[in-house]
Amino acid sequence: MGGHALLILLSVASLSLLPGAMPLQPSQAWSLFKLRQLLGDPPVLGTWRNYTDFCYGGDYKTASAFVECYEDSVTQLHIMGEPGARPLPTTFSIDAFFTTLSRLPDLKVLTLTNLGLWGPLPGGKISRLQKLEIVNVSSNYLYGELPRGLSQLGSLQTLVADHNMLGGKLPGWLKDMPLLAVLSLRNNTLQGTLPESLKDMPSLRSLVLASNNLSGNLPELSNLQVIDMANNALGPKFPRLGRKVASVVLAGNKFSDGLPADMLASCYLLERLDVSGNRFVGPFPAALLSLPSMEYLSIAGNRFTGRLSGNASCGENLRFVDLSSNLLTGSLPGCLLAAPGKTVLFSANCLSTGDDSQSQHPSPFCRNQALAVGIVPEQGRKKSGAKAGVVAVIVLVGALVVSAAVVFVVRKARLPKARPARRLVEHASSAYPSNLLADARKNLWSLGWVGLGGKNGRNAAANL
Ligand SMILES: *[C@@H]1O[C@H](CO)[C@@H](O)[C@H](O)[C@H]1NC(C)=O
Ligand SMILES: *[C@@H]1O[C@H](CO)[C@@H](O)[C@H](O)[C@H]1NC(C)=O
Ligand SMILES: *[C@@H]1O[C@H](CO)[C@@H](O)[C@H](O)[C@H]1NC(C)=O
Ligand SMILES: *[C@@H]1O[C@H](CO)[C@@H](O)[C@H](O)[C@H]1NC(C)=O
Ligand SMILES: *[C@@H]1O[C@H](CO)[C@@H](O)[C@H](O)[C@H]1NC(C)=O
Repeated sequence: MGGHALLILLSVASLSLLPGAMPLQPSQAWSLFKLRQLLGDPPVLGTWRNYTDFCYGGDYKTASAFVECYEDSVTQLHIMGEPGARPLPTTFSIDAFFTTLSRLPDLKVLTLTNLGLWGPLPGGKISRLQKLEIVNVSSNYLYGELPRGLSQLGSLQTLVADHNMLGGKLPGWLKDMPLLAVLSLRNNTLQGTLPESLKDMPSLRSLVLASNNLSGNLPELSNLQVIDMANNALGPKFPRLGRKVASVVLAGNKFSDGLPADMLASCYLLERLDVSGNRFVGPFPAALLSLPSMEYLSIAGNRFTGRLSGNASCGENLRFVDLSSNLLTGSLPGCLLAAPGKTVLFSANCLSTGDDSQSQHPSPFCRNQALAVGIVPEQGRKKSGAKAGVVAVIVLVGALVVSAAVVFVVRKARLPKARPARRLVEHASSAYPSNLLADARKNLWSLGWVGLGGKNGRNAAANL
């Protein structure tokens, strides 16, 4: 008897000595079991027993399902099902689920992935979880728009809902979430343009909206460090970035202007730039290779032009470069060739490399293609730099006119006087087949405007 009492005393003493050794409030334990039931008793929660003390006992915890408490209240709930989970049966109610969840009022961190959750996120219920800081509800079957109720979660820092079926536009009210730093909605069905108000989110650091159906130009994203917009229909303008940016993935979109070489040159922290599979034109700024932090650079599958120089330099962190399928000429920089541990892809350009393993087009191919993309849309002409192009065309036409005039005058030497200039132009046009004139014009345009006018255009001219 006495021994028993001592044991109990000892165990009570040891209980109270352990940090956080308070049993979970019974109502919260009940809620946890209710959640398990609403999830259809998934195998991942098989270790939860009626006598499990979620805050104290450690045995029930697995890497895929665990609870953390502060004193007698749940602050973290993590339930990660098996990849490929089917949707829960039609009897499942996302409303009931979040109602139960809201009875864990101190919840700060919530992970509910691969559980077959389906339905629209119930904004009203979610907004009761006022302390939420980090939420990951990836790989479920959530649909509908992001509910306005989310904007009432004033402490929310991270919202990850990748691989769901969330739709509609990205809402402008996101700017009302003062602490939101990470927003990831990869592989959903978001549509339309991004709200300008994204630029008014001083805390936002990481924006991942890859594999949706977004279109139009991106707003200014100068606070962001991580941008992943791959596989949408965004463009044509390259977005305005800030100097702190570390990773920019714009692969598989409809960007078709040039790369802003000056802006990118000041991105000293940029580690990853992937603009592959777009319609970019204009000169490839080789200075990207030598950015101090650059590790991963892909411009594959665009129409970048320019003559690379064998002596261009590379940054010391560079480990992956893909220049494939562009219109580059010149020589592959030596720093890319002699590069153990580096992956360097450059096939389907017009480079002279001495390396036959990555086949190249003959250089006229790149030149002709460059000329073809050199015909810029109307808007290109309005840009200030385009004036130079217009002047150049006028000068060229003038030169043709003069030489035509010479031919004309020599041929028709017996005519007493040169005709007025206007007539000469007409004759020039007929003396030179119209396609020749057009070609000459194209040439100039491509030289001057391949990079959409201005400074870039002149660089292109120098590079071709
Ligand atoms: C656990 O509790 C539930 C009711 O909350 C009860 O239906 C079930 O039989 C109990 N299971 C065990 C193993 O005690
Ligand atoms: C969200 O959960 C998924 C699945 O458990 C995991 O793979 C992913 O890394 C998590 N994302 C974040 C940002 O924590
Ligand atoms: C995209 O999400 C769907 C579920 O909405 C999933 O079935 C699919 O595997 C995901 N695709 C990728 C590439 O992850
Ligand atoms: C993407 O959006 C466009 C309209 O912007 C629409 O026509 C198209 O059907 C959408 N594609 C998908 C797969 O939803
Ligand atoms: C690279 O070589 C070219 C000649 O091939 C030279 O004009 C240029 O100045 C060199 N550039 C550097 C950075 O050494």
